Amino acid sequence: MNLLVVLPILVALGALRLLKAGLLAWMIALWMAIYLTLRYGFAVPIPASVITLYMGITTMALATYVLSSRERFASCSRPLIALVVERRLRTLLIVVVLGLPLLVAARIYTNMSQPLQPPSFARTVHPAPPSEPITVRGQTFDLNAVENPFRNLEKSDPSQFRVHVENGRRVYYQNCVYCHGDNVQGDGLFAHGVNPIPTNFRDSGTIAMLQEGFLFWRIAKGGPGMPGEGGPWESAMPAWENFLTVDEMWDVILFLYDHTGQRPREVEEHAK
Ligand code: HEC
Repeated sequence: MNLLVVLPILVALGALRLLKAGLLAWMIALWMAIYLTLRYGFAVPIPASVITLYMGITTMALATYVLSSRERFASCSRPLIALVVERRLRTLLIVVVLGLPLLVAARIYTNMSQPLQPPSFARTVHPAPPSEPITVRGQTFDLNAVENPFRNLEKSDPSQFRVHVENGRRVYYQNCVYCHGDNVQGDGLFAHGVNPIPTNFRDSGTIAMLQEGFLFWRIAKGGPGMPGEGGPWESAMPAWENFLTVDEMWDVILFLYDHTGQRPREVEEHAK
């Protein structure tokens, strides 16, 4: 309960009692007191639809109370009739006649001018990597031109290439499996605890359309190295430059392509 709201309401009702207010004033006051208590009186907000429901019931209960006896009905309608016919109440009548429709109109206006959707930010999953060269463990890499130093072994020395892929497999299952999953599908043990979820490398929209230099940058710098448009969420992807050597990072990239059967996007000719 929010006492800062409820106590003043009780005090106001007490004051009405001292003032010996008429029945109409009591009905209006009770209606408002119940509304304000429901709307602001609880620490945990009550849904608007539930408040509407309760206020409907309140209105019916108060109306039943007034209408169930001739005296009560008369004592409620007397001030209303006086308001309409008595000269000295003319100003009040004008205020009421103009004010009520204005209140309704204002409420409809504020409801309609509210945006219908919560503000949403589009997250760029693959933001442009920095155009300046990056430094990883003391070495400088130009991401526009860098290539996997072990990629050429695939043709020139296949057995040495396998050694690198196997080392990448070790790196993956020692470090990445917890998030990116047993089968590199982004469904590791921790995957459900993080938002955005870890990348599913089997998805054709990830490593197949990326250059190895892009992966190298993302692996080395992780979530902390994401530029602003990669937000607004905090990516849990660690910055692996703190834990892996440069060669291990290139090896795990070889493994990801080898394991999924995907090919990296080539560095475009003009960039070389
Ligand atoms: C703590 C969980 C976690 C671990 C461990 C982890 N990652 Fe990630 N990784 C993520 C999340 C979450 C994303 C998606 C958000 C993002 O792009 O930063 C991601 C994204 C990536 C991306 C970007 C893919 C793309 O399409 O842009 C690469 C590459 C990647 N991870 C590689 C790795 C490698 C390699 C390892 C192990 C050395 C690893 N990750 C370990 C959580 C993790």
